[in-house]
Amino acid sequence: MGRESGLRNGLLTLSGMTRPELQGLIDSGLKMVERIQGGHRHGSELEGRVVTTAFFEPSTRTRLSFEQAARFLGADVMTFNPASSSTSKGESLQDTAETLAALGTDTFVVRHTDEEAPRQVADWTGLPVISGGAGRREHPTQALLDALTLTRHFGSVDGLKIAMVGDIRNSRVAASNLMSFPKLGARITLVGPRSLLPETAPEGVKMAREFDPVLGEVDVVYMLRIQRERGADTGLSDEEYVRRYGLDGARTAGLKPETVVMHPGPINRGVEITGDVADGPRSLILRQVANGVPMRMAVLLHALGVDI
Ligand code: NCD
Repeated sequence: MGRESGLRNGLLTLSGMTRPELQGLIDSGLKMVERIQGGHRHGSELEGRVVTTAFFEPSTRTRLSFEQAARFLGADVMTFNPASSSTSKGESLQDTAETLAALGTDTFVVRHTDEEAPRQVADWTGLPVISGGAGRREHPTQALLDALTLTRHFGSVDGLKIAMVGDIRNSRVAASNLMSFPKLGARITLVGPRSLLPETAPEGVKMAREFDPVLGEVDVVYMLRIQRERGADTGLSDEEYVRRYGLDGARTAGLKPETVVMHPGPINRGVEITGDVADGPRSLILRQVANGVPMRMAVLLHALGVDI
């Protein structure tokens, strides 16, 4: 695998990955699932290695699941917290990265508002870096755990019809999933108001301004939060947005019986999804969270060159 797409130097993007490469990672995630289910979640593959998480944006699921994944593999974990570190005294990203490397880091997991930050950390330190979410563009491990979740539920992503609904334009989750779902054989429809959709549809991807006509056609409804911290403007009143694009009990009644509901979290109950749907029988939301651990175990092993 090459530097751009591959894992030799970490995992910065899924862009450019081939279908077998993606499938190989998902299969490794499945092996980690089996291991956890078999009661052998603690191992020693990464004993003596130091995994450092450096999240310059808030996170619950992503950071904690990486840290738990690293511990399950026997690694030491360092957590860099910008708010309580010298970043708050004006220390630059480069100085911070070089400092953390000097403390013995073997690999970084980086989340940043700047799309380029994880790549820069890799360039400055020469260490493998895994993106934990960068700008509006990259969240490769979220897309992998989503594919793992669908593979476990349906047997395969191939042939699934998936509607991604809401703030597509500002969502790195949507962006990364658009790099993998179509390649794995899924057919995607992006649903939202004009201001939250891309200006032009990616190749092979459909776009729809109305949600209701799409409901009965899809196997997966993937809801997204409005990324207000990224300046998202729905162009609608809050009530109108919920009325047209919110997933509630009435809308789920229009889905096929086997259709599932996904969301990367954090959810805003009562905005893009109601609590009864998020907690209901179609929801895979907590399974997505749970699959974050085995998927990230697999990514850490690949990034550090350990065979699975
Ligand atoms: C997302 C993120 O931070 O990109 N969450 C996640 O990692 N599960 C989505 C979001 O913030 O809405």
